[in-house]
Amino acid sequence: MRIEVKNLHFTYPGEVVALRGIDLIIEPGEQVAIVGQNGSGKTTLVKHFNGLLQPTEGSIRIGEWDTREHTVAEFAARVGYVFQNPDEQLFNSTVRAELRFGPRNLGFDADKTEALVDDAIQLTNLEKFQETNPYDLSATWRKMVAMGSIIALDSPIIILDEPTTGQDARSIERIAGIVHELHRRGKTIITISHDIDFCAENFERIIALSQGELLLDGPVLEVITQDKALATTYIDPPQLTRLAKKIGLAESIRDQQEFLAAFRKFRQEIP
Ligand SMILES: Nc1ncnc2c1ncn2[C@@H]1O[C@H](COP(=O)(O)OP(=O)(O)OP(=O)(O)O)[C@@H](O)[C@H]1O
Ligand SMILES: [Mg+2]
Repeated sequence: MRIEVKNLHFTYPGEVVALRGIDLIIEPGEQVAIVGQNGSGKTTLVKHFNGLLQPTEGSIRIGEWDTREHTVAEFAARVGYVFQNPDEQLFNSTVRAELRFGPRNLGFDADKTEALVDDAIQLTNLEKFQETNPYDLSATWRKMVAMGSIIALDSPIIILDEPTTGQDARSIERIAGIVHELHRRGKTIITISHDIDFCAENFERIIALSQGELLLDGPVLEVITQDKALATTYIDPPQLTRLAKKIGLAESIRDQQEFLAAFRKFRQEIP
């Protein structure tokens, strides 16, 4: 399902201008990471994709729906949004009930709901916590519950707001695995992240925002090599990209695999 953002402006009450004319198209099945300094407007932008916020000026279409013409509840079938802070999202007394809530609300019957919940539980590795109260889980697992409850909606578009913040290495690996599986299923995945290494390794397109405007938008390699532009929104290129450049190995390295390939080639070239 296509996302089309036209000349989007948004001002919060109190005259805080958060977005200043964003134009953007995200095609079905794309994997997009949104980066940018604190307060650059990332969360405000994606909250427009499911109608949580309405434009001050401009418009957003999700498929053929204009966000002004449908409710947030209707958009739940099209766009799943995993909040930056899971505590804003979780309110049921067991993990399974939490995951069941969305699909039931969309009107799916019991069989379909249970099948979606089982699938989401498996994807997020929550098997052993199904009857646990989400608030008795660690922050790492609460994040998985928040993700699971959105995966269970089976919406074509899934938004992850800061999925890796505060997560340990194992959990980040698990989240990367989920992103890849959802991509394989044809979902559009949009993530907001301060973790540029995670973005470069797991996403195809990067959008950098700066003070409510699009600063960069393009394929990963094209964006992560623009050190100067990224610096204006306080983003450093991925560690291996910087290292490869610094030691003269290559100008554009995206991840460990590419770094190792360039390094092997470099070693072979030594007489
Ligand atoms: N509820 C609100 N009321 C007023 N101003 C807000 C509100 N939420 C965000 N803002 C302001 O809007 C601007 C954009 O904020 P937003 O949360 O979209 O940024 P962000 O890029 O997601 O930042 P972060 O990386 O810190 O999550 C900032 O100036 C912020 O202070
Ligand atoms: Mg944010």
